[in-house]
Amino acid sequence: MSHAQGSRAALLAPVNFGDIDCHNRIVMAPMTRSRAGADDCPTALHVEYYAQRASAGLIVTEGVQPSIDGKGYPRTPGLHEAAQVEAWRRVTDAVHAKGGRIVAQLMHVGRIASRYNKRAEARTVAPCAVRANVSLYTDAAGMQPCDDPEPLSIAAIANVIEDYAHAARLAREAGFDGVELHCTSGYLPMQFLASNTNLRSDAYGGDTTRRTRFVIETLEGLVAAIGAGRVGFRICPGNPFNDVVDFEPLDTYRYLLKAVRPLRCAYVHVIRSPLATIDAFALASTHHDGALIVNDGFEPDTAAAAVTRGLGDAVSFGRHYISNPDLVERIEARAALAAFDRKTLYTPGARGYTDYAILGSTTTASASAGGAPQ
Ligand SMILES: Cc1cc2nc3c(=O)[nH]c(=O)nc-3n(C[C@H](O)[C@H](O)[C@H](O)COP(=O)(O)O)c2cc1C
Repeated sequence: MSHAQGSRAALLAPVNFGDIDCHNRIVMAPMTRSRAGADDCPTALHVEYYAQRASAGLIVTEGVQPSIDGKGYPRTPGLHEAAQVEAWRRVTDAVHAKGGRIVAQLMHVGRIASRYNKRAEARTVAPCAVRANVSLYTDAAGMQPCDDPEPLSIAAIANVIEDYAHAARLAREAGFDGVELHCTSGYLPMQFLASNTNLRSDAYGGDTTRRTRFVIETLEGLVAAIGAGRVGFRICPGNPFNDVVDFEPLDTYRYLLKAVRPLRCAYVHVIRSPLATIDAFALASTHHDGALIVNDGFEPDTAAAAVTRGLGDAVSFGRHYISNPDLVERIEARAALAAFDRKTLYTPGARGYTDYAILGSTTTASASAGGAPQ
């Protein structure tokens, strides 16, 4: 066996993320798809999409809002109502039937929202009344500026934390193996962490201790709801996406990771920092005791080398998973990876996402289907 083959084998070894036992170390990264149906419920296309990818060691779903206020984009699914629980159960059952594991990514967008994408009674909330300099696509009115957010009162913050915990309990009811707190990309948790979006001077804003409080308390709430072994969280120190600026990201994330260490969460999912000054993988492995999933631009061989060298316990793949439902089998067989069709991303309807080729299969995802690049 060559060295390279040995390294790929490292990706195929089992691993535990807290209480979640995974068959391999190839994780499907969370990716918003905007294909939910009525009442923000997942549909038969979700069942098919995730079941096709069930050979991943762990699937992290697309971002799922824990409340009506947490929604900002069109057609994203929720996990706050009974009908959504029933609909998600069909997804988790299908993944489990194929031996897979799946966690729900809890994504509260905070101020990255347009009222055109939310229910009429929903609010757009944030740590402070600072509007994001971001435009969003809406089905009803095309591109729109983000809403002016309402600042959250202390009492309202407690309610948001309870919304997350409620969603985690519903996730377990729906058959998910756990949840991942989305704590990057400029959404609500990061709006509390960042310097330009958190101008508060109360217990939730100011120095690092107070800016990190919301995330710490949210993780505590999730852990109390479903147990630490089923709660992971995702970070990307220094990520400026969606108009956030953190003046001291190293301090912020060092403090955060140390503060939540005693919780013993199932895993930390860390995206490589866009800032050259921060080695996000080293930062996370230094300050987190449990499993580490690393992400950002990995290819099968660089991923295998990362696990072999101990950079992370597992590697997540985003874009490759859009167009390679059988990514695990392709990695194992050293098969070529297909490219995805950008034009079908975030679009409604059945084209794209579920119609990519599965190696050696002529029945399901047909090789000539419209979503696969021609
Ligand atoms: C279409 C698309 C949608 C995404 N949606 C999410 C999301 O909902 N939640 C999240 O944490 N990251 C999201 N991401 C980021 C991916 O999870 C991942 O971090 C990124 O694609 C880098 O990994 P890759 O190089 O393997 O693609 C998204 C990425 C893409 C391409």
